Parts: sequence; C-alpha cells; structure tokens
Amino acid sequence: MSDPTSPAASARAIARHPNAIVAAHWLTVLAILLAFSLVLLREVADGDFLRAGLLNVHRMLGLLIGLLAIGRLLFRWRQPMAKPMATTSRAQRWAAAAVHGLLYVLLLTLPVLGMLLTNARGHLVTLPMLGSLPPLVAQDLDWADSLEEWHGTLAWLLAGLVALHAAAALWHHWARRNDVLAAMAPWVRSRT
Ligand code: HEM
Ligand code: HEM
Repeated sequence: MSDPTSPAASARAIARHPNAIVAAHWLTVLAILLAFSLVLLREVADGDFLRAGLLNVHRMLGLLIGLLAIGRLLFRWRQPMAKPMATTSRAQRWAAAAVHGLLYVLLLTLPVLGMLLTNARGHLVTLPMLGSLPPLVAQDLDWADSLEEWHGTLAWLLAGLVALHAAAALWHHWARRNDVLAAMAPWVRSRT
C-alpha cells in the first residue's frame, strides 16, 4: 500500500479551497436555485397568502445570497483561494476572473435592486425575529416597475453566466482532466 505521507503522495495532493469558501459557494448555489424556483412558482400559485409567502421567502433568500457574497469577498481578501494544479493559459485565467467578478457584481446588485423594488412598491422587507427593515426609499410605482424590469433582466443574466461558469467547471473536470472542480467540490475525486 502506498504511504500517504510520502513526498510523491504529497506532490499529488490537491490544493482544496478553504472550507469557508467551499461552504459559502455551495450554500449560495442552493439559495439561488430556491430563490429562482420560489419566484417562478409564485407565477402559477393560487391565493394571495401563498403568493405573498413565496415572495417573502424569495426576499430572505436573496438577502442571504447578498450577505454570503460580502462574507466571501471579505474572506478572500484575508485568505486567497487555493491554486489547483491546472495548466491554464493567461487568457483562460482572465476569462475566469472576468466571469467570477461579474458573478460577484450580480450577487451584490440583485439584492439591492430587490430591496429598492420592494420599498418602491410600497412594501416592507420582513425578516423572522427581526421584524420589518426600515424602507430605503419611499413608494413610487413607476420607479418600482423599472426596478422590477432591471431586477428580472439581471437575474436572467446571472442564470446565463452561471450556466457558462458551470460548463467551464465541468470542461476542466472531464476534458482537461484537472482538479479545478475537485478543489471546490470535496465530494469530487481528484483527476491527478
Ligand atoms: C441574488 C439574489 C436574487 C435573485 C437571483 C433574484 C431573482 C429573481 C427573479 C428570477 C425574479 C423573477 C423575475 C421575472 O419575473 O422575470 C425576481 C423577482 C422579484 N424579486 Fe428577486 N432575486 C434576488 C434577490 C431579491 C431580494 C433581496 C429581494 C427583496 C428584498 C427580491 C425581491 C423581488 C421581487 C419583489 C420580485 C418581483 C416579484 C413579482 O412581483 O413577480 N429579490 N427575483
Ligand atoms: C448559482 C450558481 C453559482 C454561482 C453564483 C457561483 C459563483 C462562483 C464564484 C463567484 C466563484 C469565484 C470563487 C469564489 O469566490 O468562491 C466560483 C468558483 C467556482 N465555482 Fe461556482 N458558482 C455557481 C455554481 C457552480 C457550479 C454548478 C459549479 C460546478 C459544476 C461551480 C464550480 C466552481 C468552481 C470549480 C470554482 C473554482 C474556480 C477556480 O478555481 O477558478 N460553480 N463560483
């Protein structure tokens, strides 16, 4: 049996991203899936009570996504991501950085637009145990309409970028056969 502490084994050991980054990444993925599902379910749901409940949970998940993005950025500032042994070109690194940067911009912008949209509609964002958050803006239904349009458009842009991002991660794993995905997904076996 090979010795896992041997120099050869440690040279093969893959660099995983810090646990906090990995946990926040997959919690964000889950929250985004739920936030999309609930708001789309609302389109077909019957009854004001159910519809209001679905939207309220959508708002809470949206705020959680924003807070997780702030936490991730602060954490990354203190502790850099691991560098999995991938032979990536400079252009690929730039493309990845651009997509990650844009994902962060959307993860921060969407919750703010959602809050503004809710208040401009004349509603309050209510959180369990904390009650209603103070409104950021006064009621303005015209503005609410354009904020809703922006919120929807950017949310679908996020969905498109996520598809591209996930396809790139799977391409690294299956086509390039490197550990870019394994570094972020501890349940995925190393390819090296
Ligand atoms: C990253 C976080 C978020 C994502 C991905 C997201 C996504 C979405 C999507 C896909 C829609 C449906 C758009 C459409 O009809 O085409 C929507 C609608 C909406 N979102 Fe969000 N949202 C987020 C955060 C928030 C937050 C934090 C709030 C409020 C605090 C919020 C409030 C709303 C409201 C009020 C609507 C309109 C629902 C309606 O009247 O049909 N969202 N959101
Ligand atoms: C809602 C969906 C997703 C969002 C918003 C998202 C966002 C991000 C962001 C912002 C990063 C940059 C690193 C960080 O700060 O954590 C990242 C990294 C990463 N994500 Fe995602 N992600 C999503 C879904 C996925 C999925 C479905 C996969 C796998 C199929 C995936 C695989 C990865 C990998 C492998 C990295 C590390 C990339 C590298 O080392 O350069 N992500 N993700």
